[in-house]
Amino acid sequence: MGRTRAAIFLLFLFALGAASADASELRDYGEYLSGECTTCHRIDGQDNGIPGIVGWDVASFVETVNYYKKGLRKNQAMESVAKTLDDEQIKALAVYFASVTPKTD
Ligand code: HEC
Repeated sequence: MGRTRAAIFLLFLFALGAASADASELRDYGEYLSGECTTCHRIDGQDNGIPGIVGWDVASFVETVNYYKKGLRKNQAMESVAKTLDDEQIKALAVYFASVTPKTD
């Protein structure tokens, strides 16, 4: 391996490490924030009259919370919760809830 290629490879490894550290930090932040959600939404994903929000893909989760935030989807409780969240918090919650496996029985 030439010196340039070796350097590029090391950079790549470094970037990979940094990216995964970010992802787990984001998940931890989401877990920390999730206490506000799990007073209503069950963490096992079961619908108790309030829909389950675990195991979703990150993009649809972010999109859905933003619908409430912008008032495009109406629900008084969710609109007021969503309005308190910034983009990073919504992303963190999405990553955390996506990582939780719904209980299926
Ligand atoms: C006060 C109770 C309450 C709290 C707290 C709450 N939610 Fe909700 N949430 C609801 C209800 C009720 C619905 C269903 C509303 C509807 O029919 O659109 C809902 C719907 C949702 C949906 C869409 C579910 C679906 O199946 O389409 C998502 C995503 C969601 N909530 C995320 C969150 C997140 C993230 C938090 C915490 C930041 C949170 N909720 C906190 C009551 C709550």
